[in-house]
Amino acid sequence: MNVFKDIQSVRDQVASWKQAGLSIAFVPTMGNLHAGHLQLVAQAKQKADRVVVSIFVNPMQFNEVDDFSAYPRTFEGDVELLKEVSADALFAPSNDELYPTEQDLTTKVIVPGLSDVLEGEYRPGHFTGVATVVCKLFNIVQPDISCFGEKDFQQLMLIRRMVAELNSPVQIEAIATQREIDGLAMSSRNNRLDNQQREKAPQVFQVLTEIADLLKTGNKDYLALEQNATATLDSRGFKAEYVAIRRSSDLAMPSIEDRHLVVLVAARLGDIRLIDNISLSLNSD
Ligand code: PAF
Repeated sequence: MNVFKDIQSVRDQVASWKQAGLSIAFVPTMGNLHAGHLQLVAQAKQKADRVVVSIFVNPMQFNEVDDFSAYPRTFEGDVELLKEVSADALFAPSNDELYPTEQDLTTKVIVPGLSDVLEGEYRPGHFTGVATVVCKLFNIVQPDISCFGEKDFQQLMLIRRMVAELNSPVQIEAIATQREIDGLAMSSRNNRLDNQQREKAPQVFQVLTEIADLLKTGNKDYLALEQNATATLDSRGFKAEYVAIRRSSDLAMPSIEDRHLVVLVAARLGDIRLIDNISLSLNSD
């Protein structure tokens, strides 16, 4: 696996693969790779001839300086894992390579509406940082397809919207959330949970599953379901930021006729923020 640190060399590599008629899949990451990321690479390998992975801890998407500093950086181990799953290239630029202009002055990609709700409400500026870096990475790597995990459901929707509205010729593939045996969604932040927190953490998915079951039995009292779940999480030692039942196509508030729903949650355990979601389609009456 070739490791590229500068933009021109990864572009040259991709250009030579394309000249040889090969298709390119791209998996953007912030490193600290776990089985969820490796699954993205495995799926990408099935969808294209060559897979490029990027590792870049993007300062623009962190709204808390401490969260950015505490974000685990495990580059050497990540490289080994990527070799094991036979990724073809790794792009790991420095901050100066990707952002030669200082953050306040650089061009940004704003996806209105979607950027301001749920995650966007609790993490102002986060999605502008995500959209900007993903747009830049797409322009650099120029992949045919790019794989994103469903765990970051709102991020996936945002990228789909960005690609559609900027006419970017990249096909976005959604990959199912990878879970630990006890249901906890895999995340780089899980490494920071202490033993007690780690034991509690799967309750986030349990609460989501309970809501999904109630929705499937015909319960339409969305507000009560959200409030009860929030109270349940808070009583179990979490600090729930939101539990939200939304229409899965656009994250709008659902009407009682809507059949395709997603339940999203963000909750803190100590200073660690966990997010998860579950999608469901209800049978027509
Ligand atoms: O999901 C992530 O790891 C990041 O938000 C992404 C897509 C790599 C952009 O920095």
